Amino acid sequence: MRPGIGPPVVHSRGVSSIRVRGGTRVDGEVAVRGAKNAVLKHMVASLLAPGRHVLTNVPRLLDVSIMGELLHHVGASCSYEDATLTVDVPERPLPEAPLELVRRMRASILVMGTLLARCGEARVALPGGDDFGSRPIDMHLDGLEAMGAEFELRHGVLEARAPHGLHGTEIFLEFPSVGATENLLLAAVLADGRTVIGNAAREPELADLAALLNDMGAKINGGGTSTIEVIGVPQLAPADHRVIPDRLEAGTYLVAAAVTGGTVRTAGCVPDHLRMELRKLQAAGCVVITGEDWIELTGPDRPGSVDFATLPYPGFHTDMHPQMVAMLSVAAGTSIMTENVYAARFRYVGELNRMGADIHTDGQHVIVRGVPELSGCEVDGCDIRAAAALVLAGLRAEGETVVTNAAHVDRGYERFVENLVGLGADVDRD
Ligand code: UD1
Repeated sequence: MRPGIGPPVVHSRGVSSIRVRGGTRVDGEVAVRGAKNAVLKHMVASLLAPGRHVLTNVPRLLDVSIMGELLHHVGASCSYEDATLTVDVPERPLPEAPLELVRRMRASILVMGTLLARCGEARVALPGGDDFGSRPIDMHLDGLEAMGAEFELRHGVLEARAPHGLHGTEIFLEFPSVGATENLLLAAVLADGRTVIGNAAREPELADLAALLNDMGAKINGGGTSTIEVIGVPQLAPADHRVIPDRLEAGTYLVAAAVTGGTVRTAGCVPDHLRMELRKLQAAGCVVITGEDWIELTGPDRPGSVDFATLPYPGFHTDMHPQMVAMLSVAAGTSIMTENVYAARFRYVGELNRMGADIHTDGQHVIVRGVPELSGCEVDGCDIRAAAALVLAGLRAEGETVVTNAAHVDRGYERFVENLVGLGADVDRD
């Protein structure tokens, strides 16, 4: 990759597979990168102020690359070197996000609030459904409407205008949606007057976005709490910002230790961000010790069963549920998992069952009857976390597991295979 040129950070390797030969314990240390689900929003936030923005601790991920393409499309330029992303934002961005990019990455919808606030208009292709169900954006649109936006859907594109500018208002979300909270926050910082977002998402990535926006000159109180107050300012200025560590990346490597009975230390992370996940891993028999910025987990010979339910932060993260279910598929006993965030995030279950797992879904519940052993076969890594979970299952399976569509892991994990090899796993990539 050449520094200083265009947006590319990493490109999809197309249809590739990860091969895992099971039966090896993983042991060692992994350095955790910046959080994907923070940096994507920070990149969008840069559009709020013309000039040069510098983000550090930026992971080299396909989704970051796609967001770079979107920024490029609206007229910004990005360069990436040594985990530092520099974004140069023009005086007047082009207020549109095309279908091709929105389809590849739903987070593109977040430019709606930003472009409306900055340009008074936005044309954003409507994202369709995906493997998690229909994933509507009604809360994003209702909130923006309350702030003075008008929408018209024409030929699959949402055309938004704020003829009199955006104004502050009180919004109470039906559910603490991460994306809706972010979209409204990004719009509110430049709106006229005071906005209050009630029942806001409390995710650490959101708190980090609020911190970045405040560094840019915004006036936000309560970022990372369920009530966010924003006093709009007329303009913002670029800021340098270090992205918080990726709790999902850290959590995934810790589950690798849990499922193989090894010991993994994740360095450069925030243990508090994984409080509920660590509690459930302990309940399954893992030994966890934490320092200021590291977590060390030792897995038992065979995990015990544990029930858990996904919930908005600080609950158990839905993006950690497939990895946890992969671990519980070999647990001694039966576990029940309840998915409260996405209606249909269960495609990976059939793939685990192909490996010999005994898992049933019933509505939003997943019943996992632990089996003593999985047996490797070809499975479809249908999304980022599913692909990672199937690789983890493969670590414990007898024989070879081939996870197809493994390009998904590039969306959320930098050097996933290399890191696992560094921990002693027998894994490679086609
Ligand atoms: C973000 C994360 C994703 C994570 C999710 C929940 C990014 C890029 N993605 O997604 O990895 O799984 O948070 O922690 O940060 N909903 C509505 N109407 C809306 C908005 C959301 O019904 O207007 C529903 C969704 O369909 C879903 C639930 O609310 O069932 C949660 O979605 P949300 O919190 O918005 O997730 P995202 O921001 O899309």
